[in-house]
Amino acid sequence: MIKVKQISKSFKDTKVLHDISFEIKRGDFIAVMGASGSGKSTLLYSVSGMDSLSSGKVLFEGINISAMQEDELSGFRLSKMGFVFQNAQMLKNLSVFDNIILPGLVAKKESADGIRKRASELMKRMEIEGIEERDIREVSGGQLQRSSICRAMINNPEILFLDEPTGALNSGATDQVLTILEDLNRDGMTIMTVTHDPRVAVKARRVLYIRDGQIAACKEFSLGADRERELDEWLKGF
Ligand SMILES: Nc1ncnc2c1ncn2[C@@H]1O[C@H](COP(=O)(O)OP(=O)(O)O)[C@@H](O)[C@H]1O
Ligand SMILES: [Mg+2]
Repeated sequence: MIKVKQISKSFKDTKVLHDISFEIKRGDFIAVMGASGSGKSTLLYSVSGMDSLSSGKVLFEGINISAMQEDELSGFRLSKMGFVFQNAQMLKNLSVFDNIILPGLVAKKESADGIRKRASELMKRMEIEGIEERDIREVSGGQLQRSSICRAMINNPEILFLDEPTGALNSGATDQVLTILEDLNRDGMTIMTVTHDPRVAVKARRVLYIRDGQIAACKEFSLGADRERELDEWLKGF
């Protein structure tokens, strides 16, 4: 689905990503781990076209998105990709529901009624019905993060990109988000998430370990493995 070909990214004189190549297959669930400052977020933003590359390219179903102009690319992102960040980036003067439907109204892939219906279904699925009309400051961190997953899903994207989605959550709220991600992936959603939390990474199909802007190693869990132990052993190697 996505082919990342020898991408590099520099900020001024500092090279943050070095010639990274990998593929994301449809239905994949990739977790990107690595120390703070190793380039995980930069990789996520580079692959998703949120950030420009210094060299290399990203092919999305054969389309070179790295060569797109910003307005074309932002339309492409809006309709094909969903984004979730550590701190749900919601607009403060809109209700939870209006925040969720906003990217749908902007993309216009569906009628406004269709978008509202879809938002309600998503909220039900994420078990946050009842908070539609609340101000985003009146809901818990976990509810807010589940709302931002609804928002990311509103245009029925082909891939979800998440940057430390549980980084600001307590353990109960983390579990709820993990259940949602597992569920979405089981239903076919392709997921790429950055995380430093092994609890998130064990849910993935593959884990990329980034060190100094390079893929130091890639792990695929064996079938029926004790994932927690396998990951723990693997991470000890870094
Ligand atoms: N917009 C930016 N301008 C300059 N340097 C940046 C920018 N974004 C990230 N960096 C630098 O790139 C490196 C990797 O950052 P980042 O991808 O955020 O790491 P991680 O997500 O793994 O913690 C860091 O040294 C960071 O300071
Ligand atoms: Mg980061």
